[in-house]
Parts: sequence; C-alpha cells; structure tokens
Amino acid sequence: MNQPRSKAELFGAMGLGPVWELKNTTTTPAQAAVNQAPSLSELRQTVSVCRACSLCESRTQTVFSDGVEHAPLMVVGEAPGADEDAKGLPFVGRAGALLDKMLHAVGVSRQENVYIANVLKCRPPANRNPEAAEIRQCSPYLFQQIAANQPKILLLVGRFAIQTLLNTDKPVGELRGKLHHVTVDGFNIPAVVTYHPAYLLRKPVEKAKAWEDLLLLKTAYSGMPTGRSSPIRASTS
Ligand code: URA
Repeated sequence: MNQPRSKAELFGAMGLGPVWELKNTTTTPAQAAVNQAPSLSELRQTVSVCRACSLCESRTQTVFSDGVEHAPLMVVGEAPGADEDAKGLPFVGRAGALLDKMLHAVGVSRQENVYIANVLKCRPPANRNPEAAEIRQCSPYLFQQIAANQPKILLLVGRFAIQTLLNTDKPVGELRGKLHHVTVDGFNIPAVVTYHPAYLLRKPVEKAKAWEDLLLLKTAYSGMPTGRSSPIRASTS
C-alpha cells in the first residue's frame, strides 16, 4: 500500500481537509524599513531630477554612487568635485585615487565589495564647503541610500560625512580611533571615521592615522558575520 507523504495527503487519507498552512507573517523591523524605503534605482532616478536646492542650477549632472549595490562596506564622502560632476561618479579625481589606494590596502575595491556615495549629490560651485541648508535638503537621500543598501559597516571620510551621519560638531581628530554607530530607521550600523583623502593629500603626515583607522575598519568588519544580505544589526543601545 502507498503511504501518504505530505500533510495534505495524510489529512486527505483521514478524511480531513482542507489543510491550511500557517504563513510566516512576522516582519522584522529591518524588513519593514526596507519595504518602506525606495529602491536604489528609484532613489537614483529621484536624485537625478532633484531641484531642492540651488546646486541644481550649476551641476552638470547628479552624482549618486559607485561600486557594488548592497556591498558589506559603504563609504560616505562629502560632495562631488569637478571630476565627479563631469563623470557622474563619486571620488574619481585625485582624492578618489588616494581613496582607492587606501581601500585596496585593506582588500576593498569598487568592483568587488564597496558602495560609495556622498552627503551631497551635486557639486558645490568652486568646490566650496557644503552649506547647512544644502545638507538638510540632500541628506535624506543619503539615509535612504543607506537603508536600501543595508551595509554591515560604514566608513565616513571627512567632517561633513561624520557630522551629518553622527550628528556631531566634534572634529575628526577627536572622533577617530573608536567604533561609532550611525542610526538609520532605528538600526545601529557600526561606523569608522577617518580623514578625508583630500585632506590627506594636503597633509600627508596624517596618513599614518588614516592607516590606523583602516585597520580598525578591517578588525571591526572581520568580526562581523559574513553574507551579503544579513540585516543591519538591531539597536541595542
Ligand atoms: N570628495 C568627496 O567627498 N566626494 C567625491 O565624490 C569627491 C571628492
């Protein structure tokens, strides 16, 4: 005699049915955040036509990101410069070349395992510093980018990325050397802070400290679970 195999077959053989399967309806906070957030391609499209501040008048194009979407590491810089504005990609000038070298030294490359974005998506004229109002207008895109990417760790380069994401006025020198956390949608993402590569080009003596920061990044990252799609660590503090 054939044995009934599935639960439905077994219940059928006993004259019981239909069989209702319990659906997994539990939505974790991380999933809920992702469900609400626009996708990266939707965000890129929104940013490309943004006219929320006057930087849209002088830009050649918006600069959204480079690298691998959903990579475990996300680097956040300040704003596009002339090269980035021309090419539509972040960190492609001299500072970008140094950033690539620094990342390469700890086994990170744009082709493999890092996603790169800036606080501002448009170039400030003559490479002036971002203004507070511009950061206020533009930073929600960055937070949404982080939520959509779900990185395991962030590297914040330079004071504008640090001040925006850690909500602090403290200088880089005071903040570097320890692990911070950036809160996005109620989740804490570990973050290492370091000097901006443009500053390191002007002050090469500080490169030793940046190297220490990269080692901290490497140590912190290697201590985390692997696998691209695991959710942002839940907040515990
Ligand atoms: N500096 C930044 O902060 N970002 C870039 O994309 C280029 C230079």
